[in-house]
Amino acid sequence: MKDRTQKEFHRSLDIIDKELEKHIPGILEGLWELGSMPEYMIDLMDTHIKSNFFTVTDFGCGKGAVLIQLAEKFDFEGLGIDMVPEFIASAKKYAREHDVDHSLEFMCGNFVSILPTIKNQDLVIYGYESDILGDLKTTLHQLRTCVKDNGYMMIEYIFLDNSQKGKIDGLTEKELLRVIKESNCKLIGRRDWDRERVKGVNRSNNALIRQNVASLIEKYPENANLFENYFRNQLEECDALENFFTCTTMLLRKTL
Ligand SMILES: C[S@@+](CC[C@H](N)C(=O)[O-])C[C@H]1O[C@@H](n2cnc3c(N)ncnc32)[C@H](O)[C@@H]1O
Repeated sequence: MKDRTQKEFHRSLDIIDKELEKHIPGILEGLWELGSMPEYMIDLMDTHIKSNFFTVTDFGCGKGAVLIQLAEKFDFEGLGIDMVPEFIASAKKYAREHDVDHSLEFMCGNFVSILPTIKNQDLVIYGYESDILGDLKTTLHQLRTCVKDNGYMMIEYIFLDNSQKGKIDGLTEKELLRVIKESNCKLIGRRDWDRERVKGVNRSNNALIRQNVASLIEKYPENANLFENYFRNQLEECDALENFFTCTTMLLRKTL
């Protein structure tokens, strides 16, 4: 894997030290949703996609929480791709438990190299967690190549509150909407995440992560600092997210 891809892969999971990579399945043990909010996607699809859709790819599917919950509601063939083999094994298990394994495939791999082979999708799903596919404009340009004419892209993104402009990196809402327009994509619908709900999810996820980290420290006391730093950084990231950014789910349509 190229250094840049590895760095951005680490950023997507808040891995602040290379040594943590092998422990990430243990740190996130017991969590199914790893940051996405499938209910906003379902709502957007219910509201805006009137025709049938058949093919869906989720780039960075984690443990399959998004595709599985969509498959319980809509009829399609889905492909989920993720770099972490343990996540893919969990996704397959959850798909069987939710009785949607017949319509979903989960594949372990690097989506940066797989993306150019994905074509003619009705919908692609991408949680923008890092610059792994480049900045937003470059990312949208690449995702457009995966969908058919007039196909859809479901993007999760965080934009910066205006009061923080110049203090923290990130696009403001106005800048985000401009980039979308310049990328030959039409914003069909959008759901901004409820801040209280985000705080609640972060609180319960962090309680579980705290327990996992404590077990890992018991098992690998020589790495205690590593795990403690991870957890401290996790709390800081959540704090910034809750106070300085708005998370949003956007349904975009490829325009010609
Ligand atoms: C924050 S998680 C979100 C997962 C999923 N959307 C969810 O909320 O459950 C981001 C995922 O992207 C995956 N990922 C990051 N870079 C990747 C790459 N280059 N190829 C495949 N998967 C990647 C990570 O392994 C991680 O599971």
